[in-house]
Amino acid sequence: MIRLAILAPPALLLFLLLAMDSRPSPPSPRELLSRMTIEEKVGQLVQEAPAQAAGRLSTEEKRRVREGRVGSFLNWQDPMGMAEAQRLARKESRLGIPLLFAFDILHGFRTIFPIPLALAATWNPPLVEEVAGLSAWEGRSAGIHWTFAPMLDVCRDPRWGRIAEGPGEDPFLASELASAWVRGFQGDDLASRDRLAACPKHFVAYGAGEGGRDYAAVDLSLGKLLEVYLPPFTAAVHAGAASVMTAFPSVNGLPVAANPFLLRTLLRQKLDFRGVVVSDWNAVGELLVHGVAADAEDAARLAMKAGVDVDMASGLFAAKLPGLVRAGKVPEALLDQAVERVLALKAKLGLWSSPAEPQVPPWVDPLPATSRGLALRAAREGIVLLRNQREILPLSPRVRSIAVIGPLADDRRNALGPWPGIGREEDVVTVLEGIRSRAPAATRVLFAPGCSADDPSTAGFAGAARLAESADIVVAVVGEQARMSGEAASRADLGLPGRQEELVRALVETGRPVVAILSSGRPLALPWIAEHVPAVLAAWFLGVESGNAVADILFGLSSPVGRLPVTIPRAVGQIPIYYGHTNTGRPPGSGRDVSGYIDLPETPLFPFGYGLAYTRFAYRDIQVAPAVIGHGQSVEASVLLANTGPRAGAETVQLYLRDPAASLTRPIAELKGFQRVFLEPGEERRVRFSLPSEALAFVGPDGELRKEAGDFELRIGPSAASGLSASFRLENQRLPTPSPRGTP
Ligand code: BGC
Repeated sequence: MIRLAILAPPALLLFLLLAMDSRPSPPSPRELLSRMTIEEKVGQLVQEAPAQAAGRLSTEEKRRVREGRVGSFLNWQDPMGMAEAQRLARKESRLGIPLLFAFDILHGFRTIFPIPLALAATWNPPLVEEVAGLSAWEGRSAGIHWTFAPMLDVCRDPRWGRIAEGPGEDPFLASELASAWVRGFQGDDLASRDRLAACPKHFVAYGAGEGGRDYAAVDLSLGKLLEVYLPPFTAAVHAGAASVMTAFPSVNGLPVAANPFLLRTLLRQKLDFRGVVVSDWNAVGELLVHGVAADAEDAARLAMKAGVDVDMASGLFAAKLPGLVRAGKVPEALLDQAVERVLALKAKLGLWSSPAEPQVPPWVDPLPATSRGLALRAAREGIVLLRNQREILPLSPRVRSIAVIGPLADDRRNALGPWPGIGREEDVVTVLEGIRSRAPAATRVLFAPGCSADDPSTAGFAGAARLAESADIVVAVVGEQARMSGEAASRADLGLPGRQEELVRALVETGRPVVAILSSGRPLALPWIAEHVPAVLAAWFLGVESGNAVADILFGLSSPVGRLPVTIPRAVGQIPIYYGHTNTGRPPGSGRDVSGYIDLPETPLFPFGYGLAYTRFAYRDIQVAPAVIGHGQSVEASVLLANTGPRAGAETVQLYLRDPAASLTRPIAELKGFQRVFLEPGEERRVRFSLPSEALAFVGPDGELRKEAGDFELRIGPSAASGLSASFRLENQRLPTPSPRGTP
């Protein structure tokens, strides 16, 4: 409601009048179903993209809407066209069933926030919830009801371009973020005019495709599926997600859109998911290309039987389902269940009682300060400080001249990332602009692109080096273009595209101190830069407030708090590389013939969870109590954390678990908790975690959770690669509750 305050008064009045519009409540889905023809039922399961995404419907499309043969549209960007279509559906179709409008809002609709991977780097679920909330308000004000987000694909292969859209490599962090996204989009009441139905995607294991290639086949054990890829979806479903989207690839041989084990056994039965399942774009049609459907009819039948409710864009449900139902090849009861779920979603969204939507959104131009404020906060918190030799950051107030160099330093389009909604380039504050606006008045800010982001010319190197030599400090803004991540944007090389690394080397050779700002949709493998450039920031794609956020960090107006949500490899050859791997019989350090490489350390360039602050933190005195717990009890663990550096700062304290001896090999570490702790210089605080015995369970070969008695190791530290350890024991029986004196 507070957000209404930023609407202009006439728009507010209109908004309130429309919101008060009280029409009769919707007919119940059951009752509606009883009045529907088979074609009308199938129509509810048909999702189309309008032929003109930014325009009106064709005569043919309008006819289909009037006949009730379309249930939803996606990615339509013409509010007046949408309003007209809604009017046709409600006033001119036989049953007046409203249309659903869906849109991909991955990291903002009008206000473009950092990409989801950067939001994951905040390790700040409440912030993500706010981002989702603001995006929901913007989307809903533009007549959208349903967003195809959050993207929850855990990914351990940074070659995959879609790693940019997701939560990173870890199921625990991903699950915390998943709930936050869903709560933020949906709130408590989908009918409220600032909420959207969420659609966690892509169910499931899309991030595990072979070779990091998009859409590639996935082959994985039941244990990995359930322990690594499923948890964020479980969290999203528990948070009340209204829908789920299927993933493109085949998983263990069967494409998800035709996979009853995944859609019915796991999603519907195990997770008890009651909402709508939508296929991904043309995934029903692609069952033919996968080679599991003989013809179009077969594809529609397989998808329907497997559990797809809504067919996004293939047209095969529309073309084939009525015939399949009439011929008894798809039971009408199955069709009814799917339709009922779609109608129930429409009812929950209040579509029957809301005004003919959408109105022209009143907030479009310029972006409100509150939206920019949130975008700035998110962008600052998503930046990860990877290196800060000699503490050259934050920049000293004595710096009199800064050479800002690099093809992405003054680039608007790429800052918006791979899913920029209806964001506008002109809203972006570039790094150059941010530095200019935040630099002290007496500081000269010089600029040269040096080279382009991907072409082979080095013609600009000499000029850039001259500029660098004339400055006190060099800020090199290099990285990928936005089109290099996201869908169908896998890379086989994780270096800087084009001649950018050579540019950075030329800048370092000038002898001036260099700060590298790495802009990308994925972790980049840049060992030379990590060793030779004194300060390095992972800045991802940060959205409209990119430049202000980077400048705030550079000048110390804000302290870096971001932590890696994904491991950064030294080289592509290390992939897959992730912290939570299982041990081998010959782990590194155990002798001569060990698991690793003869030409590269097996360790990453930067581990999961890593990120520096402008101060230092010391961990000491880990305590774990009680030493023995029984089922249903919790172990309390704590450390003393001290800020031993010169400035105030925040540390993200991470709790990892290891089960060193179990009936199956277990990961060498599993994140089980994290907390951000802010400390003044010299301040010390005990940071406490409580770990319930349920968190010790793992998936057995039968797919069921099991808790095995034995010793466990806890580690509390600043990343997956370091920290203090202590152990405790789980007994296979209920133990008396320990006295409070036993807890640290
Ligand atoms: C993507 C989905 C997206 C859909 C609709 C597909 O190609 O895989 O993530 O929601 O398009 O835009």
